[in-house]
Amino acid sequence: MKRRDLLGMMLASGLAYPMRQAMAQEQATLRQAAEAKGLLYGCAVDSRKIARDRPFADLVAREAGILVHEGEMKRHEIEPRADVYNFEPANRIMRFAETNHQLVRGHTLVWFNVQPQWLEQALETPDMTARTELLTGYINKVVGYYKGRIHSWDVVNEAVEPADWRWDRMRSSSIWYKAFGEDYISMAFHAAKEADPKPILFLNDYGIESDVRWNETRRSAVLKLLDRLKAKNVPVEGFGIQGHLKPYKDKFGEETFARFLHDLEGYGLKLMITELDIADSGGPADDPAQRDQFVASVAKSFLDVALASPSMLGVLTWGITDRYSWLSSADNYKWPDGQLVRGLPFDSDLKPKPMFDAMMAAFKNAPAR
Ligand code: GLA
Repeated sequence: MKRRDLLGMMLASGLAYPMRQAMAQEQATLRQAAEAKGLLYGCAVDSRKIARDRPFADLVAREAGILVHEGEMKRHEIEPRADVYNFEPANRIMRFAETNHQLVRGHTLVWFNVQPQWLEQALETPDMTARTELLTGYINKVVGYYKGRIHSWDVVNEAVEPADWRWDRMRSSSIWYKAFGEDYISMAFHAAKEADPKPILFLNDYGIESDVRWNETRRSAVLKLLDRLKAKNVPVEGFGIQGHLKPYKDKFGEETFARFLHDLEGYGLKLMITELDIADSGGPADDPAQRDQFVASVAKSFLDVALASPSMLGVLTWGITDRYSWLSSADNYKWPDGQLVRGLPFDSDLKPKPMFDAMMAAFKNAPAR
């Protein structure tokens, strides 16, 4: 029997944990399995957790080939007050990555959420030059500061929002949209390209993976936005699929997702899964083993489709262990009884879970590039 078949059987049968663990140890790391196919695997991290939790830091050093800052590269950390820049928290991750020979994604330059408080009011200035500077000046400064050290930038995060009820489904409630209309996107991409021509420039979004109506609306909004950006020669080079899945609520469908990836490939874009985690909320509360099997099976079908795309560069999970996952405190995902959400490849004891096996199997199954 082929190893892959054996692993599939183990995933399906929920084979005893010690045996899975033995198998996991015998296998390579996620980083090695991905790199063997010319792909990347990595995760989001926070420097404070790296500093205070040595076993966690060791896990990140061993498993990840690329890192992304969970929050420390966001504007409220980097420019907490107007014109007062603080790169130190972000630099801690840069140093960790350099020590461990890991690439880094830059996340994120322009987002409607988690902004420093002063920014919203500042953007209300009638002086268009000053207003533009608040967008492009920041990008110049940050992208310039990290010149040559970033694999890819999420230049704009979460640009579409059908719930804002515009005909084109753009997120019109965003401070950026209010200040510039949709032009903020092209202004941001051009500024990033000018500051450092090398990193791959990404648009990043969520709610586009599953086989449900609200995701279909978002997918079509993204594709129409890309039509407009490409028509204007905006240097969008990549599209990031966040991959925050909640399969007990929103069914994942391979064909729908494959079709969307195919549509994205048509724009000549590089693709990445940028924030994968799989919420187990909605599953049987008293049966974590059963939930783990379900999460693993969704991870496998999701990644089999994703990694089959010739444009796919790799996968990042949003965190790596259930010990530290935003899902366990997020209103939509957390368990009412306080148990942790089990949405990541390693459990809260840093032991590999069925999701880890599924990811290894998906990397091994992926065509080489
Ligand atoms: C979004 C953002 C990330 C992170 C996650 C989870 O998807 O892009 O930066 O905040 O939510 O919290």
